[in-house]
Amino acid sequence: MPLAAQGISPEHVFEELTSAAAEDADWRAGRTWSLVYNAGEDVLAVARRAYDAFFSANALNPMAFPSLRRFETEILETAARLLHGGPDAAGNLTTGGTESILMALKTARDWARATRPQVGAPEVVLPVSAHPAFDKAAHYLGLRLVYVPVAADFRVDLNAVEAALSERTILVVGSAPSFPAGVIDDIPALARLAAARGILCHVDACVGGWFLPFLERIGEPVAPWDFRVEGVTSISADLHKYGYCARGASAIVYRERALRKFQFHVQTDWPGGLYGSPSMCGSRPGGPIAAAWAVLRYLGQDGYERLTRTTMDATRRLLDGVRALGLDVLGAPAMSVFAFSARDLDIYALCDAMDARGWKIDRQQLPPSAHLMVSPGHAPFVAPFLDELGASTRELRGGGPTPPGSAAMYGALAATPDRRQVGEFLLGFMDSLDRT
Ligand SMILES: Cc1ncc(COP(=O)(O)O)c(C=O)c1O
Repeated sequence: MPLAAQGISPEHVFEELTSAAAEDADWRAGRTWSLVYNAGEDVLAVARRAYDAFFSANALNPMAFPSLRRFETEILETAARLLHGGPDAAGNLTTGGTESILMALKTARDWARATRPQVGAPEVVLPVSAHPAFDKAAHYLGLRLVYVPVAADFRVDLNAVEAALSERTILVVGSAPSFPAGVIDDIPALARLAAARGILCHVDACVGGWFLPFLERIGEPVAPWDFRVEGVTSISADLHKYGYCARGASAIVYRERALRKFQFHVQTDWPGGLYGSPSMCGSRPGGPIAAAWAVLRYLGQDGYERLTRTTMDATRRLLDGVRALGLDVLGAPAMSVFAFSARDLDIYALCDAMDARGWKIDRQQLPPSAHLMVSPGHAPFVAPFLDELGASTRELRGGGPTPPGSAAMYGALAATPDRRQVGEFLLGFMDSLDRT
């Protein structure tokens, strides 16, 4: 698109925006099972209004926008309380889970440089189920990752963790819950291993951080995962997932304020002035911060508990329905995120069949499975989803025609032993996206 010589009217701009979105994921109709966490039009309206009011505000300079400083401080206080951090807990808002994880790893690296300089090439031990944000962060920061497998229950294999620990290990990672199977790693065991060696333990609660506390409050069993577990030193918890806030908001929280200093960056000799930055971004948009504060105030504890009940009720109906169709749920999902596989049909073909019916389901590998992240907005659509999943399953089992789709490609990629080749394929795909 060359920049037009002359601008057009706002009406015309909005017409174009609306028509551009015609093919986008229809999340309002519950048709997509990731990416958007829909808690209803009322929550959206609050977030949008707050976002708009602080659209131009910039948290880069906390002195220029005391409002944003206050919002960030209060959101972090709320987060620290929910995560059962003590009075010394401290953290920051970031733009999302990936940035929170990047900050946790940067903190660990710089903490290790300062306190154990004898560790030349620091290592992080983590399960293969940990989110790719860790891989990305380690790549950016020059850290070595030591991956360990998960056990039959899809939680990290503790024997493998023990075997992977060395004098170079600075950080151990667990998820609450993991993305692929939605299970909570044995955080007490991981934290114990870390504490015994005097190293750090990060819990990735990007998914569970704003859900599990309310699940516990409504009386459901939740395995220990937060700062009540001795040895957990940092937690990432995304507001823009189950906090139902506007995208671009996550919290990184440390058990001890002193640890957070390793996250900060300062530059003292810049002609432009003294420069301090808490996290990855320079300019920090005010919209997501104000929207997060507004949504927390609007929903309150009872609002989150209500939404948690709705989501868990929808999740249970889905789990029962999926199992009733003879499909296998992976492990024992801790909350509203789960995956299922099939012994007697190609799960990727089932996803294609559902695509053809307008349902977008994420495909996973190792093992091949379909992945659902349930939000409150899915509740009215559980029955039609299960009806169509049943119809698709019966068609495939009856030897019906395999719908056109990506099943063959996913199957081949999942089974390719040379993962570098798969990486090259992915790079080529990404590179092709802007070629219309
Ligand atoms: C467990 C887990 N951690 C981290 C992330 C990364 O979050 P974001 O996409 O906000 O960067 C995700 C995203 O789904 C996740 O599921």
